Amino acid sequence: MDQSDVAGDLADILLTEEQLGSRLDEMAAQIDADYAGKDLLLVGVLKGAVMVMADLSRRLHHPVSMDWMAVSSYGSGTKSSGVVRILKDLDTDLSGRNVLIAEDIIDSGLTLSWLVQNLRSRGPESVEIATMLRKPDAAKVEVDVKYVGFDIPNEFVVGYGLDYAEKYRNLPFIGTLAPHVYA
Ligand code: IMP
Ligand code: MG
Repeated sequence: MDQSDVAGDLADILLTEEQLGSRLDEMAAQIDADYAGKDLLLVGVLKGAVMVMADLSRRLHHPVSMDWMAVSSYGSGTKSSGVVRILKDLDTDLSGRNVLIAEDIIDSGLTLSWLVQNLRSRGPESVEIATMLRKPDAAKVEVDVKYVGFDIPNEFVVGYGLDYAEKYRNLPFIGTLAPHVYA
């Protein structure tokens, strides 16, 4: 899927496929170095983190396990509800594991701060976060993030796993929506 397939729906391309890819190279190298000789479990947050998980994990030389969680914090709108619910829990016992959460975006931070607390209560060795995007100006709670791809302005973005009403997830880049799409 490319820009021509969603003609008129996008206001702007914020980050190209190439920019995302080269930043992921750097993040993977850092993660390889930080976890050298250690066990590592990647936890992806469905559905938005699918692309980050696939592209980041394939850049790692480090052997990893992967597991998935689904939580709900948004309906089909563009504002965080602040309410987090587990829709699908992990299959993995976290005791003694080094957990790295792979996320698409940290917006208000409400979802991640809740998730980190929840996973820490399960007896892991460590819990850290790798996120492709972060919106510093939208933060409602401070979240300690070890790996950040890009800090972006406080605008609603789509693509690379991120949706608006379940659309645009399969765009390979990050773009902003034209206002008429959600008007
Ligand atoms: P937070 O709890 O506000 O930090 O964000 C929770 C979730 O909302 C993220 O993991 C995304 O799935 C979704 N989200 C936040 N901002 C955006 C956006 O700009 N576009 C699409 N989804 C978003
Ligand atoms: Mg998400």
